[in-house]
Amino acid sequence: MENNTVYELSDIRYSYAGRFEALKGVNLKVGRGEKIALIGANGSGKSTLLLVLAGLFFPDSGSVKFFGEDLREESFDAPLFQKNFRSRVGIVFQNSDVQLFNSSVDDELIFGLTQLELAEEDIARRLKEYASLMEIGHLLERHPQQLSIGEKKRVAIASVFAMEPEIILLDEPTSGLDPRTSRHLIDAISKFAQKGCTIITTTQDIHIVPEVADRVVVMGEDKCIVRDGRAEEILKDLAFLETHNLIHSHAHTHKDIAHVHPHEHPSHDHTHDLTH
Ligand SMILES: Nc1ncnc2c1ncn2[C@@H]1O[C@H](COP(=O)(O)OP(=O)(O)O)[C@@H](O)[C@H]1O
Ligand SMILES: [Mg+2]
Repeated sequence: MENNTVYELSDIRYSYAGRFEALKGVNLKVGRGEKIALIGANGSGKSTLLLVLAGLFFPDSGSVKFFGEDLREESFDAPLFQKNFRSRVGIVFQNSDVQLFNSSVDDELIFGLTQLELAEEDIARRLKEYASLMEIGHLLERHPQQLSIGEKKRVAIASVFAMEPEIILLDEPTSGLDPRTSRHLIDAISKFAQKGCTIITTTQDIHIVPEVADRVVVMGEDKCIVRDGRAEEILKDLAFLETHNLIHSHAHTHKDIAHVHPHEHPSHDHTHDLTH
């Protein structure tokens, strides 16, 4: 039978420099095709967890299984495993500057596609398709460092999406972006998500959650998972969100509670204006 469990993490712990604890006993199971939002206050361990899922950090203890197989640092010594894993799992870092290293935007996309050993015409087709999805067609000749933050983010995402990984990890994709840029990004992510891939998005931006996920995993200040469930359930629980520093208390009294409601909550017909 085909294994539909992408990740299974059991009691993982991770500390930076052996001293600064960032994950303290995380258990998480991710099924194929799930759309998960990983939310939590600053410093709760979201980025660290994403780096573990990306096979870039390895926990001090506990186990990480990827499609039923142990994912360890040594696993990557085998070139075939390394190549296979890197083509199946794509990560978009919060800071695009660490992602972009080529001397032009089109090379950023072509680089990854060349790694996949695609035929030239397939490379050209994907370049066109993803440049169009991310609206970067007019930037292809530019040096990535000559772009605005929003443009860099679009290029970084395009370069990852173009490889069509089965699993996409997005670290705070909309942080620092203006509303229109965020809006476009979320639309592009949703469109890509329809291909059926597994997507895990970290965010502090609670109102993008219903658009990128149907399951929410919440990291607490004690650096482990404090809740895991359906987005619409968790987003309704204002007291819980406030306790975990995900919404501000005045969201209760404000008429603005629509912000923390799921985007398409069936029992509400108010319009959700995501532009403010
Ligand atoms: N490079 C680092 N060196 C030491 N501690 C770090 C480093 N990066 C993150 N941490 C610590 O690890 C914890 C989790 O951080 P992080 O995963 O970045 O959280 P989040 O993404 O939820 O804000 C925090 O306590 C943070 O201070
Ligand atoms: Mg982070």
